[in-house]
Amino acid sequence: MSNRVLVFDTTLRDGEQSPGVRLSVTEKIEIGRQLVDLGVDIIEAGFPISSPGDFESVHTLATELKGVTVCGLTRAREKDIEVAAEALKPAERRRIHTGLGVSENHLQFKLKMTADQALETGVRAVKHARKFTDDIEYFMEDSGRADPDYVYRVVEEVIKAGATTINVPDTTGYTYPNEYYHLIKGIIENVPNSDKAIFSCHCHNDLGMATANTLAGVMGGARQVEVTVNGIGERAGNTALEEVIMALYIRSDKFHCQTGVDTKKLLPISRMVAKLTGMVVQRNKAVVGANAYAHSSGIHQDGVLKDRSTYEIIDPLLVGADRSEIILTARSGRHGLKFRLHEMGFDFNADRFEHLYNEFVKMADTKQEVDEEDLRELVNK
Ligand code: KIV
Ligand code: ZN
Repeated sequence: MSNRVLVFDTTLRDGEQSPGVRLSVTEKIEIGRQLVDLGVDIIEAGFPISSPGDFESVHTLATELKGVTVCGLTRAREKDIEVAAEALKPAERRRIHTGLGVSENHLQFKLKMTADQALETGVRAVKHARKFTDDIEYFMEDSGRADPDYVYRVVEEVIKAGATTINVPDTTGYTYPNEYYHLIKGIIENVPNSDKAIFSCHCHNDLGMATANTLAGVMGGARQVEVTVNGIGERAGNTALEEVIMALYIRSDKFHCQTGVDTKKLLPISRMVAKLTGMVVQRNKAVVGANAYAHSSGIHQDGVLKDRSTYEIIDPLLVGADRSEIILTARSGRHGLKFRLHEMGFDFNADRFEHLYNEFVKMADTKQEVDEEDLRELVNK
């Protein structure tokens, strides 16, 4: 099994499905170009049949983006596939992403089909899509709640029909890591032709487990991850690109896998997507949040100032951040204050420093943060 994990970015499709988000074609191109620069392998540009605007976006991205596979989503319907194929025509490399539900819930309530009818529909869709490209990804919606034996049957048949990537979505964010690991591993071990396809993790974050499940899927043998920048997406969102990339990198001792992503570009793209979508990144968000490399308590500051590795497993430079920050609050101690004063060019003897520290503590109790301006005021006094 290869140790290269493909990164399939769906910020512009599943991410854009976030309630309240609407990106113009120009904004999509801006994000698309930055995704190429970041080093993702596949960009899901949209769902071409869903609206003329989405068709235009996919067509424009397919025209403009070079050095990446551009993908369009379709339902398992001929018309959808033909429209997607048309939108993707100018792409250097194009992928059609088709499929339908596999859980009893989706079969009964949404598709109103028997399992056999859904399987036949899926196989027909793959065969039709193969007329336009040989890069076909098949999604089995709601795999996380499906009967694994049915999933195995579907996988075997759609691979025979020509699917080259099999997406195993935990559409509702229902599974937990051990379950998702066994789902992927079970497919690879039980489907006779599983060596003919790449398996892909597509996890939603309803229970806050999207990243953990995606990583569990990689452990189980998946070699593609479907992610969005900042984890934006339907409901509680999709798997966050930056979290998966950094987890694979920092814990390479466990995963032994590589991606083509340039980690130094993670923070710039996170900021760009937040700005263009209006989806603000929470301060304590892993990897790209404003507090991710900030230390405010005295105990932590003491450790980090002696050696960064005491409280930081990611070097901020690795993700494109400037450096770790020492934030002064009422919980900070002498080491942090001394460090910040030194940075500003002030070094005091022990008595004067002690006096300043006492004044600092009084001020810190009245504020969320003592900033540089406050420090100057203290020093001037
Ligand atoms: O979550 C999901 O199942 C999806 C599919 C359409 C791939 O987004
Ligand atoms: Zn999804």
